[in-house]
Amino acid sequence: MPEIHYHDYLQLDKILSAQFPESVKRQLPAHDEMLFIIIHQAYELWFKQLHHEVDSVVSILARPSLNDNSPELQTVVHRLNRCVTILRVLVHQVDIMETMTPMDFLDFRDMLRPASGFQSWQFKELEAKLGLKFDHRHGKEYYTAQLRSEHVDLIKKAENEQSLLQLLNSWLERMPFFNEKENWGVAISDTGEKGHPFWNEYRQRYARSLDEAEKSNLAVFDEVFFNNPPSLNRESLALSAEANRAALFIMLYRGYPILQLPFQLLNSLLEIDEQLSSWRYRHMNMVHRMIGTRIGTGGSTGKDYLKAAADKHYIFKEIAQLNSFLIERSKLPALPYYMEERLGFVHQ
Ligand code: HEM
Repeated sequence: MPEIHYHDYLQLDKILSAQFPESVKRQLPAHDEMLFIIIHQAYELWFKQLHHEVDSVVSILARPSLNDNSPELQTVVHRLNRCVTILRVLVHQVDIMETMTPMDFLDFRDMLRPASGFQSWQFKELEAKLGLKFDHRHGKEYYTAQLRSEHVDLIKKAENEQSLLQLLNSWLERMPFFNEKENWGVAISDTGEKGHPFWNEYRQRYARSLDEAEKSNLAVFDEVFFNNPPSLNRESLALSAEANRAALFIMLYRGYPILQLPFQLLNSLLEIDEQLSSWRYRHMNMVHRMIGTRIGTGGSTGKDYLKAAADKHYIFKEIAQLNSFLIERSKLPALPYYMEERLGFVHQ
């Protein structure tokens, strides 16, 4: 094997000769177009890395035998946290873009039409792999309207495969410690309610924790955790009532060793949503600053389109919603000894 050289290993010939400013081609060189190209290329490279991480996480979560305390689950959490760190960098990269003034942008903006970040299929495919469904997209068909057909195919394929969110649902549903056929020996108040004693007890404690103005939360509690009454929009929800119960249990009892990794997994997904949303808002504000209320080069309403997409495209919002159903630690129902043992925490 020939000795590897840095230049060849990184294919720098290709990467460093892949910047062709339109303004130079038209002999009207605009200094900042180089920055504009390089920053978009840097984003696309990071998007590629995010796909690499998400694909690997999806393939691990798709294994039916994934254990909750296994090295594989640690790998999942580690890689999702890496995605979070990359997304943080992507949010900060907007700072560099903002060193370009609106007038500098105008020097070459019209030459780019109708090209737009709107045609970034990697970004849309990533949203789909994470779990954003077509029905939940702002503007529906519109989001693929300007993509090439081969890129639309990639996004449709990702939408039809099991997303990270769907795999999370299956994983939560099969929590091995979480056998609701047992009653967990929980001491219950005599309410005559049907259902699992632990959840009946928890529901009562939650109800007592609500302020007058929050009383309607109890109906949402029943819908989210017991599908009662059967939710009309259940089809559009990713997490089943059973998965929601497992996720809430993880959040409530996360101090137990076996629940620490599952908790970190849930937390990293919320962090991904938060960073994606920060990116959308920073991008939107930058767009507003750069082009005001003019339409985008991709022909959308510009800032208004981006705002609507930012508000609607939270992917893990069903997990975030579970935080409304937490109660204080000191009010949690105590778990029986054998449950504590199962969760990896045994009193001496
Ligand atoms: C001067 C800088 C920028 C301006 C003025 C700008 C403007 C816009 C506008 C107006 C849209 C809406 C679609 C349209 O009508 O074109 C859009 C979408 C988008 N832009 Fe930018 N953009 C800028 C920089 C960037 C950068 C650096 C990236 C990094 C990849 C990026 C990625 C995207 C993406 C992914 C979308 C689609 C968002 C969605 O559909 O939710 N943009 N941009």
